[in-house]
Amino acid sequence: MSYHVTATDPSLLPDAFALFRRTYVVARRAHPLLPALTTEYEARLQRRLGGALGQRGVAVTRDGRLRGYMIASARFDTHGLAAAVVPEFAHAAAAAEFEPVYGRLYAALAERLVGEGIHLHMIGHFASATRLTRLLYELGFGALVAEQLRDLSDVAAPSGAVVQREERWDAVADLAAEHEAYYRASPMFLLKDGTPATIAADLDEHKQAGDALFVHRREGVPQAYLIVGRCPGATMGRLFEGTDTAQVRSAYTTPAARGRGIGTALLRGAVGWARAGGFERVLVEHETANPLAAPFWRRHFNHYLTYSMRYVDRRL
Ligand SMILES: CC(C)(COP(=O)(O)OP(=O)(O)OC[C@H]1O[C@@H](n2cnc3c(N)ncnc32)[C@H](O)[C@@H]1OP(=O)(O)O)[C@@H](O)C(=O)NCCC(=O)NCCS
Repeated sequence: MSYHVTATDPSLLPDAFALFRRTYVVARRAHPLLPALTTEYEARLQRRLGGALGQRGVAVTRDGRLRGYMIASARFDTHGLAAAVVPEFAHAAAAAEFEPVYGRLYAALAERLVGEGIHLHMIGHFASATRLTRLLYELGFGALVAEQLRDLSDVAAPSGAVVQREERWDAVADLAAEHEAYYRASPMFLLKDGTPATIAADLDEHKQAGDALFVHRREGVPQAYLIVGRCPGATMGRLFEGTDTAQVRSAYTTPAARGRGIGTALLRGAVGWARAGGFERVLVEHETANPLAAPFWRRHFNHYLTYSMRYVDRRL
């Protein structure tokens, strides 16, 4: 019997969710900090998947049964190109037919995306799903962003660096601008908007959201900061929307002060804040190519999800 590729529609929800649910159960076994599949959480995931199925997805069926699905987001601009992302809940395949199904799903989806002028393709996938990670690599994807989780246990911070809650958010405007500029460097080559107006608006947004700012000062001058808040679960940490999950939203130590335990002390403050606020876990996301962030977060968190990216020749 041959495979058929069709467009997704909301009527596929029960079968599509059953496929994703199996993937999630396996991932949660490897990463127990992922939310438990309570009735409420399942209903939330189903609502999200139901909404996505009515959009830009492809499905593979065999013998009239759904074997896999893959749904891309709306187009957005990043890295100077038009892009679309397949969120972590927006793809799954029957385990027994995993490789032929994923191959067909991505080929069909990519053809449509390229036809629409979308040449940057991203996908979120569980770090524990090693077969899928390998398959994506063979399809031309490479790692872009890692999402990591930790529990609320105390962070060991032996340096004794002093960090304090800071209520005046503009005190870190210069450091935040330095932080944005940091991403331009090799091997990240990421262009961020570090204009004073954008920085001020961004800091104000954190303040309005009730986020907490922790700062380390030397002779009164901020040398490092960390922002922690509730994980919105919109474009990052999508599986945590509506859950009690805190997220490290930003962290930066000026070059001369690095490697002395200041970042660790800031993280300790953030985890204490999350614990006092009744959160259940802390999330952080970082560019996998960030040479300072990757080892630092790996030391304190557990990598559960990767966003990978593939570029297709834009002349096509
Ligand atoms: C990531 C970052 C915030 C860490 O800040 P930091 O103040 O250097 O953090 P620490 O000093 O606590 O830890 C850094 C390293 O120094 C080591 N260290 C910790 N305490 C130390 C001490 N007392 N003496 C010497 N080294 C120490 C740590 O083991 C750590 O090593 P690791 O990265 O292999 O885990 C900093 O590197 C930075 O600003 N990077 C650029 C921006 C960035 O990447 N931000 C994160 C975005 S997701």
